[in-house]
Amino acid sequence: MSKPAVLFVCLGNICRSPLAEAAFRAEAERIGLAVDIDSAGTGDWHAGEPPDRRAQAVARRHGADISGLRARQVTRRDFYQFTHVVALDSENLAALAALRPKDATASLSLLLDHAPGREGEAVADPYYGDQSGFETTWRDVEAGAAGLARRIAAEA
Ligand code: 4NP
Repeated sequence: MSKPAVLFVCLGNICRSPLAEAAFRAEAERIGLAVDIDSAGTGDWHAGEPPDRRAQAVARRHGADISGLRARQVTRRDFYQFTHVVALDSENLAALAALRPKDATASLSLLLDHAPGREGEAVADPYYGDQSGFETTWRDVEAGAAGLARRIAAEA
């Protein structure tokens, strides 16, 4: 199989998907999985911006520096560049399913479908809440990232 490449997708690409990217990168390194990793948003309002300050803060507390990331919008091309496109919630999953070309090579899934016992659950949007919501986001993306990394390692 070609080297796995995972794209995490939320709405703005400034809160949840950069944190999923960071948690998955840490988990892949921990288990020695060689994988390309990126994130994007279904919306373009924040394109070019760094992650939300609260997302940067929670990542820093958990040992990850995401300050250098910049938001971008997902494209149809991503469905060929990546082997796994992973949505953070069902609205974004539906938007991705609509965008996905018919002959796309990437699989499309929901992040928490990879966390045993949490199938079908969303990583809730923390944007309009306070800092504590971002801790919940971190725990959620860690759970999904761990399961996804195990799954990809088993496929390889
Ligand atoms: P994200 O959070 O999808 O986790 O990056 C959001 C960021 C921005 C907005 C909504 C959600 N917004 O409406 O601008």
